[in-house]
Amino acid sequence: MAGNIKLIVCDEAADVAKEAAALFADVIKAKPDAVIGLATGSTPEATYAELARMHKEEDLSFAKVTSFNLDEYWGLDGDHDQSYRYFMNGQLFSHVDIRTWNTHVLNGKAVNPQLECQAFEQKILSVGGLDIWLLGIGGNGHIAFNEPGSSVDSRTRLVDLTPETIAANSDGRFFKEASEVPRCALSAGIGTIREARKIVLLATGSGKAPAIAAAVEGAFTPDCPSSLLQDHPDCTFIVDREAAADLKNAG
Ligand code: PGA
Repeated sequence: MAGNIKLIVCDEAADVAKEAAALFADVIKAKPDAVIGLATGSTPEATYAELARMHKEEDLSFAKVTSFNLDEYWGLDGDHDQSYRYFMNGQLFSHVDIRTWNTHVLNGKAVNPQLECQAFEQKILSVGGLDIWLLGIGGNGHIAFNEPGSSVDSRTRLVDLTPETIAANSDGRFFKEASEVPRCALSAGIGTIREARKIVLLATGSGKAPAIAAAVEGAFTPDCPSSLLQDHPDCTFIVDREAAADLKNAG
């Protein structure tokens, strides 16, 4: 089942970033006060660099933009150098003219995680929902920290990370040792993500090939959380050749 997912296969990872940044720039130019969803991880770093370049060289302005991030490690505060707030500040927010008070990253040190998650959902509603949400994908098919088994209508909540995700984030790119990786995170749910009017998922490298094939051509199932995007009306996957390698119909 291919569902509605639109697939763009690029020759190189650098082209994935250019395509993704161009889609975001189009949304922001059409609606300067757009509400955008952002992701962390290695994959979107080049997209953020391209958006920062467009801000500097092409006057792309984020002055009226509001942003929401997918997730945050539970137990890390925003000053921790492995927190997603810290990542976003370093990768994007400090390079563009977005107003800090318009950037929303869940607080990993909130006193009450349930209230923190409810407030996040309320804030999304109060600004009229997301115009576009950028996603990565885990090798196990996860989106945000919605690990396999997460339901299609899940909302923002405290979740446990799987051993695969802990291992993937402790391979030296982020944390040095598995014992340093938090075991839980606050994560937007699949239902939360599916309500975005446009979804753009990025994947690069051969490690993502099985997950991309399962998400695009496999069954619609919580066993592969990204497959639960198949019936979204406006969902685009932008992948490089390596990440597309296991698709039967890569176009
Ligand atoms: P990565 O993470 O971009 O670091 O591979 C993606 C994800 O786990 O969602």
